[in-house]
Amino acid sequence: MPEKFAVVYISRYGAAKQYAQWLAQAMGADLFDGDGLHMKDLKEYPSIVFGSGVYAGRLPVASLIRKAASAFPEKKLTLFTAGLTDLSNAEYYQKLVKSNLPGIPLRAFHFPGKINAQKMKLFHRIIANLMISALRKKPSEQLTDNDRAFIKTGESGQLDRSAVTPLVAALQNT
Ligand SMILES: Cc1cc2nc3c(=O)[nH]c(=O)nc-3n(C[C@H](O)[C@H](O)[C@H](O)COP(=O)(O)O)c2cc1C
Repeated sequence: MPEKFAVVYISRYGAAKQYAQWLAQAMGADLFDGDGLHMKDLKEYPSIVFGSGVYAGRLPVASLIRKAASAFPEKKLTLFTAGLTDLSNAEYYQKLVKSNLPGIPLRAFHFPGKINAQKMKLFHRIIANLMISALRKKPSEQLTDNDRAFIKTGESGQLDRSAVTPLVAALQNT
């Protein structure tokens, strides 16, 4: 019998939700909104994928993952994140995952996020605009790849369905 997957997301503006939907469709997985989710809802799934955006280096889905790791040490847990962090910076990404989820063994995949100032609640819009305008003031040679990605994606922000392909392949091969 094929393995049963659950995909759980916490999404403020829809990016992680959209990736979770694409992933659930590709895997034939059951999809859950993590807000209000109970651990008992995940009991029957041997493999669970959790996803959220990244907010000032924090992952809103991290506390759910910690609960799942403690309640179900035998399950396979996988994380995906949506954010403006440069995909090519693997070292930065590994640090981010470890600092949010110390000691929890899991695979992690990062997808390009989107940021839409029109839809953002005021507090987030203020923080995002402050971050972007601070970056714009930096001399261009001092900008890291992460900074450039944040500035650039802040002005566009299309999600790409094919981004989930490596995660689908990894799940199918386990
Ligand atoms: C206030 C704020 C802080 C953010 N901080 C980060 C960050 O530290 N790193 C990052 O990669 N993306 C950051 N982002 C971008 C979000 O992760 C991105 O917009 C993501 O697509 C949001 O996913 P969601 O809509 O599913 O919540 C930030 C966005 C906002 C609004």
